[in-house]
Amino acid sequence: MPQYLQRGSIPPKRHTTHPRDPGYKSEGIHYEEVITTQGFSRAYSIVYHLRPPTRVIRVEAAGTKPIALAERSTLQHIHLKTASMPASGDPISGRVPLFCNADMILSRCRPKEPQQVLYRNARAEELLFVQHGKGRLRSMFGDLPFRPMDYIVIPKCTTYLIEFDPDPTPPDLLVVESNGDLGFPPRYLNPDGQFRLGAPFCERDLHGPAATAPLDLEGEFELLIKDGETWTKYLLAHHPFDVAGWDGMVYPYTFNADDFEPITGTIHQPPPIHQTFQGSGFVVCTFAPRMLDTHPLAIKVPYAHSNVESDELLFYVRGQFGSRRGVEIGSMTLHPHGIPHGPHPGTIQASRSVQATNELAVMVDTFRPLSMCAGAVLLEDPKYPYSWLD
Ligand SMILES: [Fe+2]
Repeated sequence: MPQYLQRGSIPPKRHTTHPRDPGYKSEGIHYEEVITTQGFSRAYSIVYHLRPPTRVIRVEAAGTKPIALAERSTLQHIHLKTASMPASGDPISGRVPLFCNADMILSRCRPKEPQQVLYRNARAEELLFVQHGKGRLRSMFGDLPFRPMDYIVIPKCTTYLIEFDPDPTPPDLLVVESNGDLGFPPRYLNPDGQFRLGAPFCERDLHGPAATAPLDLEGEFELLIKDGETWTKYLLAHHPFDVAGWDGMVYPYTFNADDFEPITGTIHQPPPIHQTFQGSGFVVCTFAPRMLDTHPLAIKVPYAHSNVESDELLFYVRGQFGSRRGVEIGSMTLHPHGIPHGPHPGTIQASRSVQATNELAVMVDTFRPLSMCAGAVLLEDPKYPYSWLD
């Protein structure tokens, strides 16, 4: 979880009156909402609304959207060229699932239209990686600015709206929905809960929402709630961003991949040094620009390896990728459990004289096998499994 934050006005003691004159129905107070995790046992935030957050006019079914899986009969390496994926929908409806398992869904999203309706994921923590686009994520916690190369972490049950600033480059997102926890690797934190000296990032690199004036609006406000495959449309009786203040450790925040301080050695260091987030059943790593190994005999691209209990999914974000041929910006490769993968022919020799890499990639390693989704089929490079032949 990110560090404790406080925004706007809160009373000196929790669960006591926070006066407001005259207040909703002249009750003279703000209305507390406590957002808790793991029952009441883990991180929480306390939010002060202008009105009770429970005022609903109507609840309607909005359908089910099961994920269609691709028909696969082989275990093999996969390369998707996702940069060619057509733009569609909005930042929520435009999400195209590409891989999934019981722990997570990984989608790409190239929205064509602005998000008009408030959205809330009732079941999953969301991690958005911004390949292109700048703007703000609006929620009851305030406006959270984002920019390219930001990870945006959105706790489950956060009602939000994403706004992109006008830009000649259309917005482009990688979206991970995590059914379990999503936090930082425990080894990065000291027993006091602070990032250790030597961790590749720290509290200063995490950015929470700005204090934002509450929206005092009665009316009819539509909210789409995703609960697994089931979607529900709510009509709220007032705007839910009516928050005068809050404090706690549950809120959306950003971390920019360019703030990741790479750890390097004289010889090749294994992928866990790139770890950024810890999910339940998966990890997220940032392969940031870095100096390469300095030993005079070092082989500076990764060794071939069989990661026997893990599926490795790599999204190529920026720069040149020293160990790969045929991948491009926006490519996504899946190197599954059960078979070895490694550098492409010629890349070992080519890397010997190179001192640094400017590559930026996001890796998601899952501990349960991933299934390819139907939306990935048209993006697949069928030659990839054979790309290690000379
Ligand atoms: Fe690998």
